[in-house]
Amino acid sequence: MTTALSSILPIVLFCVAASAHPQDRRSGFEFMSPSTQAMQRDDTQNPGMLWIKEGEALWQRKAGRAEQSCAGCHGEAARSMRGVAARYPAFDAALGQPLNLGQRINQCRQKHQQAEPWKRESQELLAMESYVGMQSRGVPVEVSDPRLLAFIERGEQRYRQRIGQLNLSCAQCHDDNWGRKLGSAVIPQAHPTGYPVYRLEWQGMGSLQRRLRNCMTGVRAQPYAYDEHEMVELELYLNKRAQGMPLETPGVRP
Ligand code: HEC
Ligand code: HEC
Repeated sequence: MTTALSSILPIVLFCVAASAHPQDRRSGFEFMSPSTQAMQRDDTQNPGMLWIKEGEALWQRKAGRAEQSCAGCHGEAARSMRGVAARYPAFDAALGQPLNLGQRINQCRQKHQQAEPWKRESQELLAMESYVGMQSRGVPVEVSDPRLLAFIERGEQRYRQRIGQLNLSCAQCHDDNWGRKLGSAVIPQAHPTGYPVYRLEWQGMGSLQRRLRNCMTGVRAQPYAYDEHEMVELELYLNKRAQGMPLETPGVRP
Protein backbone atom coordinates (compact mmCIF):
# COMPACT_ATOMS: atom_id res chain seq x y z
CA MET A 1 0.00 0.00 0.00
CA THR A 2 2.83 2.41 0.87
CA THR A 3 4.25 2.58 -2.65
CA ALA A 4 0.86 3.29 -4.16
CA LEU A 5 0.15 6.20 -1.84
CA SER A 6 2.30 8.93 -3.34
CA SER A 7 0.86 8.43 -6.81
CA ILE A 8 -2.67 8.72 -5.49
CA LEU A 9 -2.02 11.67 -3.21
CA PRO A 10 -3.32 14.40 -5.56
CA ILE A 11 -6.61 12.56 -6.03
CA VAL A 12 -7.05 12.16 -2.31
CA LEU A 13 -6.34 15.82 -1.66
CA PHE A 14 -8.46 17.35 -4.38
CA CYS A 15 -11.54 15.18 -4.45
CA VAL A 16 -13.78 15.79 -1.50
CA ALA A 17 -16.93 13.74 -1.79
CA ALA A 18 -19.69 13.69 0.79
CA SER A 19 -19.18 11.68 3.99
CA ALA A 20 -21.04 8.42 4.32
CA HIS A 21 -24.53 9.07 5.66
CA PRO A 22 -25.85 6.31 7.92
CA GLN A 23 -27.95 4.94 5.06
CA ASP A 24 -24.83 4.71 2.81
CA ARG A 25 -22.77 2.80 5.30
CA ARG A 26 -21.17 -0.29 3.83
CA SER A 27 -19.03 -2.95 5.37
CA GLY A 28 -15.63 -3.56 3.78
CA PHE A 29 -17.19 -6.85 2.70
CA GLU A 30 -19.17 -5.03 0.01
CA PHE A 31 -16.03 -3.67 -1.66
CA MET A 32 -14.43 -7.11 -2.02
CA SER A 33 -14.27 -9.33 -5.08
CA PRO A 34 -16.97 -12.03 -5.35
CA SER A 35 -14.41 -14.78 -4.66
CA THR A 36 -13.20 -13.12 -1.42
CA GLN A 37 -16.82 -12.53 -0.41
CA ALA A 38 -17.54 -16.22 -1.00
CA MET A 39 -14.64 -17.14 1.31
CA GLN A 40 -16.14 -15.08 4.13
CA ARG A 41 -19.68 -16.23 3.52
CA ASP A 42 -18.99 -19.95 3.59
CA ASP A 43 -17.66 -21.26 6.91
CA THR A 44 -16.18 -24.31 5.22
CA GLN A 45 -13.99 -21.99 3.07
CA ASN A 46 -13.31 -19.23 5.61
CA PRO A 47 -9.74 -19.68 6.93
CA GLY A 48 -10.77 -17.72 10.05
CA MET A 49 -12.69 -20.81 11.17
CA LEU A 50 -9.35 -22.46 12.08
CA TRP A 51 -8.85 -19.77 14.73
CA ILE A 52 -12.44 -20.21 15.89
CA LYS A 53 -11.79 -23.92 16.40
CA GLU A 54 -8.71 -23.14 18.45
CA GLY A 55 -10.65 -20.57 20.46
CA GLU A 56 -13.32 -23.14 21.18
CA ALA A 57 -10.69 -25.58 22.51
CA LEU A 58 -9.07 -22.86 24.66
CA TRP A 59 -12.50 -21.92 26.05
CA GLN A 60 -12.82 -25.43 27.49
CA ARG A 61 -9.22 -25.78 28.73
CA LYS A 62 -8.31 -25.20 32.37
CA ALA A 63 -5.48 -22.71 32.80
CA GLY A 64 -3.50 -20.80 35.39
CA ARG A 65 -2.99 -21.29 39.09
CA ALA A 66 -6.78 -21.20 39.58
CA GLU A 67 -7.09 -24.19 37.21
CA GLN A 68 -10.27 -22.72 35.83
CA SER A 69 -11.51 -22.76 32.26
CA CYS A 70 -13.49 -19.95 30.66
CA ALA A 71 -16.33 -22.47 30.32
CA GLY A 72 -16.11 -23.28 34.04
CA CYS A 73 -17.31 -19.76 34.87
CA HIS A 74 -19.11 -18.63 31.73
CA GLY A 75 -20.69 -21.90 30.60
CA GLU A 76 -21.65 -22.17 26.96
CA ALA A 77 -20.17 -19.30 24.95
CA ALA A 78 -23.09 -19.29 22.50
CA ARG A 79 -25.29 -18.15 25.36
CA SER A 80 -23.03 -16.20 27.76
CA MET A 81 -21.00 -14.36 25.07
CA ARG A 82 -23.85 -13.58 22.68
CA GLY A 83 -23.79 -9.84 22.02
CA VAL A 84 -20.72 -9.17 24.19
CA ALA A 85 -18.24 -8.35 21.38
CA ALA A 86 -20.78 -5.97 19.82
CA ARG A 87 -20.40 -3.60 22.78
CA TYR A 88 -16.58 -3.61 23.10
CA PRO A 89 -14.50 -1.53 23.79
CA ALA A 90 -16.58 -1.09 26.95
CA PHE A 91 -16.13 1.08 30.03
CA ASP A 92 -14.40 -0.59 32.95
CA ALA A 93 -15.65 1.09 36.12
CA ALA A 94 -12.77 -0.11 38.31
CA LEU A 95 -10.14 1.27 35.92
CA GLY A 96 -12.17 4.32 34.90
CA GLN A 97 -11.34 3.73 31.23
CA PRO A 98 -12.52 1.68 28.25
CA LEU A 99 -11.06 -1.76 27.55
CA ASN A 100 -11.17 -3.52 24.20
CA LEU A 101 -12.21 -7.16 23.96
CA GLY A 102 -8.64 -8.48 23.98
CA GLN A 103 -7.83 -6.50 27.14
CA ARG A 104 -11.05 -7.73 28.76
CA ILE A 105 -10.19 -11.37 27.97
CA ASN A 106 -6.70 -10.87 29.40
CA GLN A 107 -8.22 -9.44 32.58
CA CYS A 108 -10.03 -12.74 33.04
CA ARG A 109 -6.79 -14.60 32.34
CA GLN A 110 -5.01 -12.66 35.07
CA LYS A 111 -7.73 -11.97 37.61
CA HIS A 112 -9.86 -15.10 37.36
CA GLN A 113 -7.51 -17.78 36.02
CA GLN A 114 -4.34 -16.41 37.60
CA ALA A 115 -2.58 -17.04 34.31
CA GLU A 116 -0.23 -14.94 32.20
CA PRO A 117 -2.00 -12.54 29.82
CA TRP A 118 -1.84 -13.58 26.18
CA LYS A 119 0.41 -11.40 24.02
CA ARG A 120 -1.13 -9.01 21.51
CA GLU A 121 -1.57 -10.69 18.09
CA SER A 122 -0.62 -14.07 19.59
CA GLN A 123 -2.35 -17.08 18.12
CA GLU A 124 -4.18 -17.66 21.43
CA LEU A 125 -5.52 -14.14 21.89
CA LEU A 126 -6.63 -13.88 18.26
CA ALA A 127 -8.28 -17.29 18.55
CA MET A 128 -10.19 -16.31 21.69
CA GLU A 129 -11.13 -12.83 20.40
CA SER A 130 -12.43 -14.48 17.23
CA TYR A 131 -14.33 -17.15 19.14
CA VAL A 132 -15.97 -14.64 21.47
CA GLY A 133 -16.51 -12.30 18.49
CA MET A 134 -18.26 -14.95 16.44
CA GLN A 135 -20.88 -15.43 19.16
CA SER A 136 -22.09 -11.95 18.15
CA ARG A 137 -22.30 -12.57 14.40
CA GLY A 138 -25.28 -10.57 13.15
CA VAL A 139 -25.62 -8.57 16.38
CA PRO A 140 -25.63 -4.79 15.75
CA VAL A 141 -22.71 -2.75 17.10
CA GLU A 142 -23.86 -0.91 20.20
CA VAL A 143 -22.18 2.10 21.79
CA SER A 144 -24.59 3.60 24.29
CA ASP A 145 -22.74 3.92 27.60
CA PRO A 146 -22.59 7.68 28.40
CA ARG A 147 -19.33 7.15 30.31
CA LEU A 148 -17.67 6.52 26.93
CA LEU A 149 -18.50 9.91 25.42
CA ALA A 150 -15.27 11.76 26.26
CA PHE A 151 -13.20 8.82 24.94
CA ILE A 152 -15.20 8.65 21.71
CA GLU A 153 -14.70 12.38 21.21
CA ARG A 154 -10.94 12.04 21.53
CA GLY A 155 -11.05 9.11 19.11
CA GLU A 156 -12.91 11.26 16.60
CA GLN A 157 -10.36 14.06 16.92
CA ARG A 158 -7.59 11.59 16.05
CA TYR A 159 -9.64 10.26 13.16
CA ARG A 160 -9.85 13.77 11.71
CA GLN A 161 -6.28 14.81 12.46
CA ARG A 162 -3.75 14.82 9.61
CA ILE A 163 -0.83 12.54 10.37
CA GLY A 164 2.43 11.26 8.92
CA GLN A 165 4.72 12.43 6.15
CA LEU A 166 1.78 12.24 3.74
CA ASN A 167 -0.19 14.54 6.05
CA LEU A 168 -3.50 12.73 5.63
CA SER A 169 -6.27 12.03 8.10
CA CYS A 170 -8.27 8.83 8.34
CA ALA A 171 -11.33 10.89 7.35
CA GLN A 172 -9.75 12.12 4.10
CA CYS A 173 -9.55 8.56 2.85
CA HIS A 174 -12.41 6.81 4.59
CA ASP A 175 -15.10 9.55 4.66
CA ASP A 176 -14.19 11.64 1.60
CA ASN A 177 -12.82 9.04 -0.80
CA TRP A 178 -14.30 5.65 0.00
CA GLY A 179 -15.09 3.58 -3.05
CA ARG A 180 -12.12 5.06 -4.97
CA LYS A 181 -9.10 3.01 -5.87
CA LEU A 182 -5.77 3.41 -4.13
CA GLY A 183 -3.35 1.39 -6.22
CA SER A 184 -5.02 -1.98 -6.52
CA ALA A 185 -7.07 -1.59 -3.31
CA VAL A 186 -10.49 -0.01 -3.03
CA ILE A 187 -10.72 2.42 -0.09
CA PRO A 188 -13.40 1.00 2.23
CA GLN A 189 -15.36 3.02 4.81
CA ALA A 190 -13.22 1.68 7.69
CA HIS A 191 -15.90 -0.15 9.63
CA PRO A 192 -14.56 -2.44 12.36
CA THR A 193 -17.35 -5.02 12.07
CA GLY A 194 -15.34 -7.98 10.69
CA TYR A 195 -12.49 -8.11 13.21
CA PRO A 196 -10.42 -10.08 13.94
CA VAL A 197 -10.17 -10.81 10.19
CA TYR A 198 -8.30 -13.29 8.08
CA ARG A 199 -6.39 -11.03 5.72
CA LEU A 200 -5.11 -12.59 2.51
CA GLU A 201 -2.14 -10.19 2.47
CA TRP A 202 -1.16 -11.30 6.00
CA GLN A 203 -1.92 -14.94 5.29
CA GLY A 204 -3.26 -15.02 8.79
CA MET A 205 -5.61 -13.57 11.33
CA GLY A 206 -5.10 -10.07 12.69
CA SER A 207 -6.80 -7.64 15.03
CA LEU A 208 -8.39 -4.29 14.24
CA GLN A 209 -5.36 -2.67 15.86
CA ARG A 210 -3.02 -4.39 13.43
CA ARG A 211 -5.15 -3.05 10.56
CA LEU A 212 -5.08 0.49 11.99
CA ARG A 213 -1.32 0.31 12.41
CA ASN A 214 -1.06 -0.67 8.73
CA CYS A 215 -2.99 2.47 7.75
CA MET A 216 -0.78 4.63 9.97
CA THR A 217 2.45 3.30 8.53
CA GLY A 218 0.83 3.64 5.07
CA VAL A 219 0.81 7.43 5.51
CA ARG A 220 4.29 7.17 7.10
CA ALA A 221 3.13 8.06 10.57
CA GLN A 222 4.45 6.48 13.77
CA PRO A 223 1.66 4.01 14.64
CA TYR A 224 0.20 3.95 18.15
CA ALA A 225 1.38 1.01 20.21
CA TYR A 226 -1.01 -1.90 20.76
CA ASP A 227 -3.57 -1.25 23.51
CA GLU A 228 -2.33 2.32 24.04
CA HIS A 229 -5.24 4.54 25.11
CA GLU A 230 -5.10 6.44 21.79
CA MET A 231 -5.64 3.16 19.99
CA VAL A 232 -8.59 2.09 22.16
CA GLU A 233 -10.20 5.53 21.69
CA LEU A 234 -9.85 5.24 17.93
CA GLU A 235 -11.42 1.75 18.07
CA LEU A 236 -14.28 3.23 20.09
CA TYR A 237 -14.92 6.02 17.61
CA LEU A 238 -14.97 3.51 14.73
CA ASN A 239 -17.61 1.56 16.67
CA LYS A 240 -19.65 4.71 17.15
CA ARG A 241 -19.53 5.37 13.39
CA ALA A 242 -20.61 1.76 12.80
CA GLN A 243 -23.35 1.78 15.45
CA GLY A 244 -26.16 -0.53 14.37
CA MET A 245 -24.15 -2.40 11.71
CA PRO A 246 -24.03 -6.20 12.23
CA LEU A 247 -20.86 -7.96 13.37
CA GLU A 248 -19.35 -10.40 10.83
CA THR A 249 -16.45 -11.97 12.75
CA PRO A 250 -14.49 -13.82 11.39
CA GLY A 251 -14.26 -11.51 8.36
CA VAL A 252 -12.01 -12.12 5.36
CA ARG A 253 -10.23 -9.14 3.76
CA PRO A 254 -7.90 -8.82 0.75
C1 HEC B 1 -4.34 7.08 2.15
C2 HEC B 1 -5.63 6.55 2.46
C3 HEC B 1 -5.85 5.96 3.84
C4 HEC B 1 -5.67 6.59 5.06
C5 HEC B 1 -5.15 7.98 5.34
C6 HEC B 1 -6.13 5.64 6.06
N1 HEC B 1 -6.55 4.49 5.46
FE1 HEC B 1 -7.52 2.97 6.37
N2 HEC B 1 -7.52 1.91 4.61
C7 HEC B 1 -7.09 2.40 3.39
C8 HEC B 1 -7.21 1.36 2.39
C9 HEC B 1 -6.82 1.46 0.91
C10 HEC B 1 -7.73 0.21 3.06
C11 HEC B 1 -8.02 -1.17 2.45
C12 HEC B 1 -6.74 -1.89 2.16
C13 HEC B 1 -6.94 -3.20 1.42
O1 HEC B 1 -8.07 -3.62 1.22
O2 HEC B 1 -5.93 -3.81 1.08
C14 HEC B 1 -7.94 0.62 4.46
C15 HEC B 1 -8.51 -0.19 5.43
C16 HEC B 1 -8.91 0.26 6.68
C17 HEC B 1 -9.74 -0.48 7.60
C18 HEC B 1 -10.30 -1.88 7.37
C19 HEC B 1 -11.76 -1.86 6.95
C20 HEC B 1 -12.31 -3.25 6.70
O3 HEC B 1 -13.38 -3.34 6.11
O4 HEC B 1 -11.72 -4.25 7.10
C21 HEC B 1 -9.90 0.29 8.71
C22 HEC B 1 -10.70 -0.06 9.95
C23 HEC B 1 -9.17 1.52 8.49
N3 HEC B 1 -8.59 1.48 7.24
C24 HEC B 1 -9.05 2.57 9.40
C25 HEC B 1 -8.23 3.67 9.23
C26 HEC B 1 -7.94 4.65 10.26
C27 HEC B 1 -8.52 4.63 11.67
C28 HEC B 1 -7.08 5.55 9.72
C29 HEC B 1 -6.43 6.75 10.39
C30 HEC B 1 -5.51 6.41 11.47
C31 HEC B 1 -6.87 5.17 8.33
N4 HEC B 1 -7.55 4.01 8.09
C32 HEC B 1 -6.12 5.89 7.41
C33 HEC B 1 -6.65 3.68 3.14
C34 HEC B 1 -6.38 4.64 4.11
C1 HEC C 1 -13.26 -17.72 37.81
C2 HEC C 1 -14.30 -17.29 36.89
C3 HEC C 1 -13.90 -16.76 35.51
C4 HEC C 1 -13.07 -17.34 34.58
C5 HEC C 1 -12.23 -18.60 34.72
C6 HEC C 1 -13.15 -16.51 33.41
N1 HEC C 1 -13.97 -15.45 33.62
FE1 HEC C 1 -14.53 -14.06 32.26
N2 HEC C 1 -15.58 -13.06 33.69
C7 HEC C 1 -15.75 -13.49 34.99
C8 HEC C 1 -16.48 -12.47 35.74
C9 HEC C 1 -16.87 -12.53 37.21
C10 HEC C 1 -16.74 -11.42 34.84
C11 HEC C 1 -17.43 -10.10 35.15
C12 HEC C 1 -16.45 -8.97 35.28
C13 HEC C 1 -15.37 -9.17 36.31
O1 HEC C 1 -15.65 -9.23 37.49
O2 HEC C 1 -14.20 -9.34 35.91
C14 HEC C 1 -16.17 -11.84 33.57
C15 HEC C 1 -16.26 -11.11 32.39
C16 HEC C 1 -15.84 -11.54 31.13
C17 HEC C 1 -16.07 -10.86 29.88
C18 HEC C 1 -16.84 -9.56 29.71
C19 HEC C 1 -18.30 -9.86 29.63
C20 HEC C 1 -19.17 -8.65 29.47
O3 HEC C 1 -20.39 -8.83 29.45
O4 HEC C 1 -18.66 -7.52 29.32
C21 HEC C 1 -15.50 -11.60 28.89
C22 HEC C 1 -15.47 -11.29 27.41
C23 HEC C 1 -14.90 -12.76 29.52
N3 HEC C 1 -15.13 -12.69 30.88
C24 HEC C 1 -14.21 -13.74 28.86
C25 HEC C 1 -13.52 -14.78 29.50
C26 HEC C 1 -12.62 -15.68 28.81
C27 HEC C 1 -12.34 -15.69 27.32
C28 HEC C 1 -12.12 -16.52 29.76
C29 HEC C 1 -11.10 -17.63 29.57
C30 HEC C 1 -9.84 -17.22 28.95
C31 HEC C 1 -12.70 -16.14 31.03
N4 HEC C 1 -13.52 -15.07 30.83
C32 HEC C 1 -12.45 -16.76 32.25
C33 HEC C 1 -15.33 -14.69 35.51
C34 HEC C 1 -14.46 -15.57 34.89
